[in-house]
Amino acid sequence: MCPEYPEIVTELLKIAQEELEHFQMVHEIIKKRGYEFGRERKDDYVGQLFKFIVQGTRKEYIIDRMLFAAMIEARSCERFRVLTENIKDEELKTFYKDLMISEAGHYTTFIGFARQLGDVEKVNQRWEEWLDYEAEIIKSYGKKETIHG
Ligand SMILES: [Fe+2]
Repeated sequence: MCPEYPEIVTELLKIAQEELEHFQMVHEIIKKRGYEFGRERKDDYVGQLFKFIVQGTRKEYIIDRMLFAAMIEARSCERFRVLTENIKDEELKTFYKDLMISEAGHYTTFIGFARQLGDVEKVNQRWEEWLDYEAEIIKSYGKKETIHG
């Protein structure tokens, strides 16, 4: 994604490994409980967000990719918080809480990289634009119960 910043690649690999571990844990829980994964669905929300990434210069593009990822992580963190607070199942409560903490860490990492690569003020301004754009997407959905990891 950004070979010119090897220290970012190192962190991205850690995040990817963590996501993979979570996927494995979900898989184990689903097996243990006798369920089956649903087929993968096209994620319209992510597709809509993706369109907002500026092409601009290489650096602008990378910063926006980071904000795109930060947005997804922030929202999945929030959803895990809602699940954690509302679920009765103790095993899942603990599991979702761990995921929430992990997603919060990913959000912080991505937004941190964006601020590190660009002018902090400009990045913060751009983040506001992302929030507004995402709010419009959310408004168009109503209340569907899906998670974007
Ligand atoms: Fe994540």
